[in-house]
Parts: sequence; structure tokens; C-alpha cells
Amino acid sequence: MVGGAGFIGSHMVKTLALAGYEPVVLDNLCTGHADAARYGRLIVGDAGDAQAVGRLLEEHPCDAVMHFASHILVGESVADPAKYYANNVGTTLALLQAMRDARIDRFIFSSTAAVYGVPSCSPIPESHALSPINPYGQSKLMVERILADYAAAYGLKSVCLRYFNAAGADPDGELGERHDPETHLIPLVLQAASGRRADIAVFGRDYPTRDGTCVRDYIHVTDLAEAHLLALEHLANGGAGGVFNLGTGVGYTVAEVIEAARRVTGRPIAVRDEPRRLGDPPELVADPRLAMRTFGWQPRLSSLETMLQHAWRWTLQAERTAS
Ligand code: UFG
Repeated sequence: MVGGAGFIGSHMVKTLALAGYEPVVLDNLCTGHADAARYGRLIVGDAGDAQAVGRLLEEHPCDAVMHFASHILVGESVADPAKYYANNVGTTLALLQAMRDARIDRFIFSSTAAVYGVPSCSPIPESHALSPINPYGQSKLMVERILADYAAAYGLKSVCLRYFNAAGADPDGELGERHDPETHLIPLVLQAASGRRADIAVFGRDYPTRDGTCVRDYIHVTDLAEAHLLALEHLANGGAGGVFNLGTGVGYTVAEVIEAARRVTGRPIAVRDEPRRLGDPPELVADPRLAMRTFGWQPRLSSLETMLQHAWRWTLQAERTAS
């Protein structure tokens, strides 16, 4: 697995280990944390280093590759697209070549709702037009297209999972979100609740939504990991590859998330109104039925309350450790 020391990857490593797999993690630790990958065997290295990946696959023969490592900041991708295309596309090409050399033909790829750009309907089915509005989304769509070509030409079977908003933390309290800088709504709201931040900025109250703030489909990171496990088993059992949304089908506004966080934490949370953030679509809600039907997947932990409870425990724990 590439990127198993990051937020979603580390939950995946744990899910695989608990299911009886022996995940080998390749991570260059540029944003990940070594201790987060502790359920697997961590090898520090770069997925774009063909020789290193080749050696790894010789020493640790693998049945499939899961790829979680990418740059994920939309704003940064606009300012520095070269960084995004080099890492999210270039490194993935090198990884795919190493897989072909090692004759591994199953691949699970982390894609994103950003491939839809500003959607014309809600919920969004996989068949919706693909028109990303930033280099981050473009880079993920490019890899999806490369994978479709590789399936046709080389028989490399892949599942691309288009995540909506990953949230929550490990239900056992062992893992959680540790981005630096943190830009995601839920961890920032919880830091405002803990007192680490003075307040939470609300980016725009003039969207065409029920309360004027943006709607997102938040999905628990452990539910995401379970979907990957089922996708892996689907490919192993001879199932066809493809592209699948991972979300719940239910959206919450930014204001609703903040209100729910007040309830869950029992703390006051001060709000500061800011203008819209560039490139934020008003509403992103998945139609997740294809993944449910194909993999037999059902989110179990993705109620807003549960995601906030798990993320809150992680926030408090991380702050205790830091102080
Ligand atoms: N938001 C705020 N205040 C903040 C942070 C976020 O109001 O301090 C709002 C955003 O404007 C957005 C919503 O909260 O409406 C969610 O924002 P996040 O940054 O948490 O998530 P995004 O929907 O922007 O990002 C998600 C993924 C990214 C991915 C992006 C692609 O988390 O990794 O979709 O569209 F790049």
C-alpha cells in the first residue's frame, strides 16, 4: 500500500490487518506519520522510485496495490500545478510501471468528488459529466483515464473510489487526522471547540442551499476503509473494475456541522464569517448506490454525531499528547 501513513491510508492498514491481511506500506512520510502505519510493515521510500518499488515487490510479493499517496490541497494545486501533476500523475505512472514489471494486476485508487467540478445535480451519480475546476481534480481524473486505458491494453484491473468528505477517526481512538496545515472543516471546528483556535471561519453564507452555507457529504474514514477492503475482495473474486462514489447520500451544511459539534462537545464554538473560498461548489452529495450494490457495502459509522464523537476524542487526545 502506498501512503499508508496518512489519514485514510492508516485506517486502511488497520482494517486490512484486522481482516487478516499483511499490509506492506510504502510511504515517503512527506505528510504521513510513521506511527500511524503501525498495523503494517512500513518501508520509507518514494513510489516514484521505480528501483526501490521493484526491490520492495521482490522482497514482499504483493497480490494487489492500493494507492493513497497524493497531494490534496485544492488551493495549492492552483498555485503550483506542477507539484500536483508530478506527484499525483507522474508518481502514479511510475508505480503502475513497477506493478506491470512485477506482474501485479489489481489496483485500488483514491479518487475524489473533485472530478465532477461544479455538479449540475444532487446526489451525483458516477455517470455525471467530468469537469474538474482545479489541477487537483484534473490530476485524479487523468489517473482514472490512464487506468481505463491500462485495463484495456494490459489487463490491469482497477477500482477508482471517488471520495466525498472523509471525516471521523478510528473508533478505538488509535488513529485520526493529523494534517499540517489543517484545512478541513471538522478538525478545525473541533479545534475551535477545544480552545486551540479562537473560532471557526465560515466561508460564505450566500450559497443557494438551505441555510446559505455549503453542503458536503461526510463519510467516516473507517467506512471508507471497509469499502476499499470489499473492493479488493471484489477484484480478487474476479469482479470487474470501475469507478465508484464513496459517500452516504446525505449532505450537511457547514452551519449544521458546527451546530452538531456544539452538541457533541458540549462546548461553545465561536464563528467568524468570511467570504466564499475560491473553487468551493455549493453542494457535493454522492449517489453511493453503485458501490453499495457492487460491493455489498453499507456505511456503519457515518452519522454526523458518530463522526464528530470519534474526531472529538482524537482531537482531545492529540492535544493532551502535544501539551
Ligand atoms: N469550510 C469552512 N471553514 C473552514 C474550512 C472549510 O467554512 O475553515 C467549508 C468549506 O468552504 C466547504 C466545507 O467547509 O464548504 C468543507 O470543506 P473541507 O475543506 O473540509 O472539504 P472540501 O469539501 O473542500 O474538500 C474535500 C476533500 C479534499 C478535496 C476536496 C475536493 O476533503 O481533500 O474535497 O473538492 F480536495
